[in-house]
Amino acid sequence: MEQGIRLQKYMAEAGVGSRRKCEEWIQAGLVEVNGLRVTELGTRVDPGKDEVKFRGKTVNPPLREKTTVLLHKPAGYVTTSHDQFGRKDVCDLVKIPGKRLYPVGRLDYQTTGFLLLTDDGDLAFHLTHPKHHIPRVYEAKVKGTPDQAALSRLERGVRLEDGYKTKPARVRILKKEAEGTWIEFTLYEGKNHQVRRMARAVGYPVLRLRRVAMGPLRLEGLPEGKYRLLTEKEVRMLYKASGMKE
Ligand code: URA
Repeated sequence: MEQGIRLQKYMAEAGVGSRRKCEEWIQAGLVEVNGLRVTELGTRVDPGKDEVKFRGKTVNPPLREKTTVLLHKPAGYVTTSHDQFGRKDVCDLVKIPGKRLYPVGRLDYQTTGFLLLTDDGDLAFHLTHPKHHIPRVYEAKVKGTPDQAALSRLERGVRLEDGYKTKPARVRILKKEAEGTWIEFTLYEGKNHQVRRMARAVGYPVLRLRRVAMGPLRLEGLPEGKYRLLTEKEVRMLYKASGMKE
């Protein structure tokens, strides 16, 4: 059996460009394997062992075997499997043959928005590890209109009902509506029900809540209930943000 994968496939899966383009670049002499220029299309490489360079820059091995998707979670789904009340589970919304993906962190039953699901256990671990302070951005509609004092308290840190004092956060008003005010929260930690508990602690309960971003990625453009595979580039951005080595 032949070892490794074809060089153009390696490059395409690593996100350099289409396989056709990579073939052209190989033939044009722009690619090196282990320091030697390669122009043969039949060349095979061993990901993780051979060093591939394109235009003098290292091409990191493709992260092919892992799958990470971004789901726009709708309300009315749990993010924990085996819910004791038998409620619907976000995993039912992401059907990829042969894959079992798990949510990265948690969103409440009624919270909507940005949720990653992955079979990359390392990535999930690093993204949720408190030491990395990956920012999570939420939009919350709260009852009433918080005054400046309430916003400042939310930013500096508030004491929750269990005595925990939240870490500094960024908070700003987005829009006032008749029934409440939309506020953007950027949190650098992820305690259970944190936004709802913080808002309650300053006297402005949350009416609606959605997460719109995590680390370098945003939800933008993805309809509710739909998911998409992350690109190679996006996965690498998450690796970097969470301090992971590839
Ligand atoms: N904070 C909450 O209160 N709920 C969520 O689902 C996420 C953050």
